[in-house]
Amino acid sequence: MPPNNSNGTTTSGTPSKVTLSLVHLPSKKDIKAPWPRTPTRVDPNNPPWPAYRGYHEYSFAHATMQSRLPTILGKAIEDAIRTLNEQSSEERVVDLVACIERMDDLMTDLSGNAKLRPLIDDGEGDIALWNKEIAKYFQGKDFMNAPWLFAEAYKYRRLHECFSISKFWCDYDVFYRQKCDTFSRSSDAVFELSMRFAEPYKIAENLSAEEKVEAERLMFMELTQVCLWGNSTDLSLLINMTEEQIKSLQSTGGDHLAATEKNILGNHLAKLWDTVKELREKTSGRVDFVLDNAGFELYCDCVYADFLLQSGLASQIRFHGKRYPWFVSDVTKKDWEWLFNTMVYGQLFPKASDVELESLHRLGRRWKQYEKEGKFVYEQHPFWCTGYTYWDLHSEAPDLFLHLSRSDLVIFKGDLNHRKLTYDCAAPASTPFDVAIGPMASSAGAPKIASLRTIKSDVVVGLGPEGDEIAEKLDETEPGWKISGKYAVVLLSEGRPGEKVRFA
Ligand code: F6P
Ligand code: MG
Repeated sequence: MPPNNSNGTTTSGTPSKVTLSLVHLPSKKDIKAPWPRTPTRVDPNNPPWPAYRGYHEYSFAHATMQSRLPTILGKAIEDAIRTLNEQSSEERVVDLVACIERMDDLMTDLSGNAKLRPLIDDGEGDIALWNKEIAKYFQGKDFMNAPWLFAEAYKYRRLHECFSISKFWCDYDVFYRQKCDTFSRSSDAVFELSMRFAEPYKIAENLSAEEKVEAERLMFMELTQVCLWGNSTDLSLLINMTEEQIKSLQSTGGDHLAATEKNILGNHLAKLWDTVKELREKTSGRVDFVLDNAGFELYCDCVYADFLLQSGLASQIRFHGKRYPWFVSDVTKKDWEWLFNTMVYGQLFPKASDVELESLHRLGRRWKQYEKEGKFVYEQHPFWCTGYTYWDLHSEAPDLFLHLSRSDLVIFKGDLNHRKLTYDCAAPASTPFDVAIGPMASSAGAPKIASLRTIKSDVVVGLGPEGDEIAEKLDETEPGWKISGKYAVVLLSEGRPGEKVRFA
């Protein structure tokens, strides 16, 4: 800055900045921003509480946008190159080279923090939703200053575009090898469950009616935990995990489960049992699973769903998966089919005993039969692969909302689904779940919603009235507790079932 003259101008002739001394005015007040935002001011760029954004250094959002996503994309490129090197037909080779070039462009955009451009119309059912959201809320925004949730989802959608506009590789899954490989390395936990559930379970005949219900309750509690902790092994976080570490995360034994229940920081397990118990009285208890990860987690989900069917607590289970590869390990239709077929026909576990293999075959055959009978139904609505949070589900995908409103219980699995339920923002940890999920709890016709999630990212809600203190204490004593997957929540909303759904 050029020096001042005595007449208040700089040596270059421009007036210098005048500094007023405001010593006699009242001091500035510590005014808290009015969180949560009023519903009319909430939009995808302005969540109800402050958004997490990639430029917030030292946050997990930053670590993900800056390092994890480029690493994941780099591995995806390696996978496509591996496939390229296995091809013989020139047409297919040339087509795949173009896909790889598009992935390189995406890498340049991601690491250069480019602005978010509209998607190319590749005929997918979600294009209109994506481009509307970009045009309305994210014009001029880049990977780092858009809310983390949207920017991260956008990256996976752009990755899909690299293939979806090709001639031969529209359905190529760059994460498929990884997904299959991880299941094959989960043998201990896989057989632990198949050996117990290959035969349809029976509760001892000689028990009284109350004792039977109690036996069923205990089983429900353990299996809910199996289903919950099955979420701790999503591939996007397992990049550097050893086989031993994976095994310990997947331990399904009773002692382990008892010890881990204290790590469920927001625990509505008892309320969940009360809800599920009532389903039996309904003529058609329908439970929906909004799935998260393929392989071991999906296997645990199906074991749990199988129990709900066998016990008569539910008569149909509808599973909701993704239409294309998503957040590395999420379930697609191909992963769904692969799991059942590998259980029945596969040779993934060369070290397994005949008895273990037989147990897996039986379980797989039963699940295939459920599918034939319409007791297991797989669905894939385009909305699940958009950047919208579930606060917008009823407005952006009313057909899906209506469909879910007919369910008796919708179980959302995993971290990403939880982020989407809660708008992925800095809500206090004491925020009640029903408040944090907004319209998914308060809209007319909202079904009862359970979130089974191991905590792997910043948003944490539903810890009860003491929640803020619990979170503060963990921040001090265990930095990283929100991304380790060591802690979990099992949260349940009341819903407004029975009320007529109306759309504006
Ligand atoms: O990249 C972060 C993230 O989106 C987090 O939500 C979580 O750590 C992971 O990826 C996905 O976890 P999940 O498979 O449980 O949704
Ligand atoms: Mg996932």
